[in-house]
Amino acid sequence: MALTPFFFPDKTGNSVFSIDAPRIKFGAGSLAEAGWDAKALGLKRVALIVDPAIRTLPPFEVLTTSLDGAGVEYTIFDRIVIEPTERSMLDAVEFANEVKPDGFISLGGGSTIDTAKVANLLSTYPADLKTYVNKPVGDAMPPPGPLKPHIACPTTFGTASETTGIAIFDFLELNTKTGIAHRHLKPTLGVLDPNCLESLPPLVLAANGFDVFSHAIESLTARSHRRHPVPDDPSTRPLSQGSNPFSDLHCLEAIKIIGETLVKAVHSPSEATRENLMFAGMLAGLGFGNAGCHIPHGMSYAVAGLVRDYYPEGWRTNTAMAPHGIAVIVNAPAVLRLLSSMQPDLMAKAATVLSIDLEEIEPDYAGDLVADRLVEMMRECEIPNGLMGLGFTEEDIDALTEKTMPHRRLLDNAPMILEEQHIRGLFEGAMRYW
Ligand SMILES: NC(=O)c1ccc[n+]([C@@H]2O[C@H](COP(=O)([O-])OP(=O)(O)OC[C@H]3O[C@@H](n4cnc5c(N)ncnc54)[C@H](O)[C@@H]3O)[C@@H](O)[C@H]2O)c1
Ligand SMILES: [Fe+2]
Repeated sequence: MALTPFFFPDKTGNSVFSIDAPRIKFGAGSLAEAGWDAKALGLKRVALIVDPAIRTLPPFEVLTTSLDGAGVEYTIFDRIVIEPTERSMLDAVEFANEVKPDGFISLGGGSTIDTAKVANLLSTYPADLKTYVNKPVGDAMPPPGPLKPHIACPTTFGTASETTGIAIFDFLELNTKTGIAHRHLKPTLGVLDPNCLESLPPLVLAANGFDVFSHAIESLTARSHRRHPVPDDPSTRPLSQGSNPFSDLHCLEAIKIIGETLVKAVHSPSEATRENLMFAGMLAGLGFGNAGCHIPHGMSYAVAGLVRDYYPEGWRTNTAMAPHGIAVIVNAPAVLRLLSSMQPDLMAKAATVLSIDLEEIEPDYAGDLVADRLVEMMRECEIPNGLMGLGFTEEDIDALTEKTMPHRRLLDNAPMILEEQHIRGLFEGAMRYW
């Protein structure tokens, strides 16, 4: 892999990037060691934040048996809202304030792990929620110091919430999806046990796999860290610092594994496919955790916020929703087509790891072929056919565009300057793919 372009001197660019690697334990059976891990961290009384759907499944028994064995006491909170809201987050904060645990253990998908992060933050450093929420919704103040230990045990594999300092939720009061992003929110330890994925419904598995794909391809094609402004002070270096050689390595491998495994895993899951997917999710998490996503994720907040009549099979919810991985991936092929001629070298790398034959292909078309392959995979996994598959029409494009433009944290990590007309064009392109 050629590193040199990243290090060419550039008078205006930012030559530094930081690597925040999470502590991870990976492998089938690792969840059974979580009690030992908690004890090793000095935990005696933890808040166990768990998805109620998981309470009746084997991972819950494995985890609680392990905690019992290690003599770690736990109090359970299971009022998790899938795709959390500010209200459900504050409910968990109230619980944590009552219980006063010495640490947190979360067991569930991104919704559960993110809930534990916010409960940990606000019970450790009480403040109005908006104090820490990303701008423009909140003040984006950094937490005053480290949080309590948090062991995150994912039962999904897409969000990589166990590796990131991000927590995402719907701010119902303001009708917008937003979040909190700071290194201190990163869990102390992620326990990635592929056995936890055994009960995942097929569409949840597919949505997670496409979330991984998008994390990886967005981080790979993100604005180079060298083209981001030099931070005024090192403490303000953002989590989304742009693509860098460390994130590229992880992202290319994640794209390769998803390309080889996802469709197979949706139709005939096995121990091997679950292990591969969880590993790919972790790699992409290391990538986007250090580079940042851009346009497809930036557009996804509007898609998730404005969806009216899509009721996905496999999610524990009675309301219309566009689950995160689906809200992201419906935008991705349109974005890849836009990037095709702008980043031919990176697109050729992605095409190569997807085993796409580039012989006799003009370099500018590699991204189009990656988009075509992605659409083929979406079809095979029964993902909705673009925005129309989620119930949107051309008449929604104005509202979708308007709701996307404030997400500058993500849009400014794209490799080009984005104006309103570009986003509008992308939503038009994302209407349907087949
Ligand atoms: N923190 C981050 O860095 C980050 C990144 C991306 C997305 N997110 C957020 O994470 C959330 C999505 O998380 P997710 O996709 O992991 O899923 P999730 O936690 O929302 O769960 C999805 C569905 O799958 C069920 N489920 C979870 N694990 C299961 C299992 N093993 N067996 C059976 N059912 C299971 C849940 O009950 C739920 O119905 C969204 O709120 C999204 O915005 C966070
Ligand atoms: Fe994501």
